[in-house]
Amino acid sequence: MTTDRVTLFEVGPRDGLQNIKVFVPTKDKIALVNALSRTGLTKIEAASFVSPRWVPQMADGAEVVAGIERVPGVAIAALTPNLKGYQAAKAARVDEVAVFASASEGFSRANLNCSIAESLERFRPLMEEAHADGMPVRGYLSCVIACPYDGATAPKAVAGVAEKLLEMGCYEISLGDTIGAGNSASLSALLDAVLDRIPAKKLVGHFHDTGGTALEMIEVALERGLRVFDASAGGLGGCPYAPGARGNVDTLAALRRIEALGFSCGIDSAALEEATRIAARIGSAVD
Ligand code: HMG
Ligand code: MG
Repeated sequence: MTTDRVTLFEVGPRDGLQNIKVFVPTKDKIALVNALSRTGLTKIEAASFVSPRWVPQMADGAEVVAGIERVPGVAIAALTPNLKGYQAAKAARVDEVAVFASASEGFSRANLNCSIAESLERFRPLMEEAHADGMPVRGYLSCVIACPYDGATAPKAVAGVAEKLLEMGCYEISLGDTIGAGNSASLSALLDAVLDRIPAKKLVGHFHDTGGTALEMIEVALERGLRVFDASAGGLGGCPYAPGARGNVDTLAALRRIEALGFSCGIDSAALEEATRIAARIGSAVD
């Protein structure tokens, strides 16, 4: 990859649709993933293999993955909180999975029903099986700027958990501003601490746009060497266990800003506009 290449990791079908209050029909989820697969995006998070009691919106993950067109060059990803979720994701034939931890104890309890340390222990058997299967595992880290339960997060705490996830075998760490509380200054302070211990090529920006600051944060992260950003078509989303969190940065807006800065994402903007219309239709139908 050349240095002017940026990867947009589409998380709308998961991070977007998990937070819609009613159940989005499986066929609509499939239509959204299929449209996204035709844009030039190379990574699409299409499902979540979590407890259906915790997140009923994602209960049809296996059907979604079975129903989509598999386009060469497009990796289909899924969230997996434990070994049970990993095995379901593997049976569904996803290309990669992601574990998710929190940098704050309050959100860890609310989202995973356990402490940070316990969540890392739960990932261990998953990581071992994934390693044996040759399955890439991404690591998400939530509440890297602030937590809806504990307030501001210390940058050093983020660096510490991120390092543990990498040591366990995650190939990259997605730094989640889960409630969209960050700005250029708080992100710079965070990156000062994290880049001290982890190279930029292992880090991803995952910025929810609650405060309208996600694009400026992408710009700061680009200056600091990050080259992968999570984004959500139409800006859909949030997290059911992070009250007030809005969607991830809109993929099209991220694409336009990143390209205006001279980077290339390899995405066809007309095709992405079409996928964004589908995302918007899904969002407005259930509002
Ligand atoms: P628990 O209740 O402590 O787990 O939940 P448990 O092990 O005691 O199991 C309870 C029941 O769930 C059992 O069923 C298990 O079989 C079942 P029962 O015997 O009672 O019928 N179960 C499962 N079923 C399906 N798939 C599974 C699974 N695991 C257990 N994988 C647990 C612990 C982790 C399961 C639960 O807390 C959970 O599912 N949490 C997920 C919450 C979630 O998905 N949140 C949104 C995604 S994270 C996010 O959006 C942030 C991110 O975008 C980054 C950012 O923005 O910061 C990634
Ligand atoms: Mg998120």
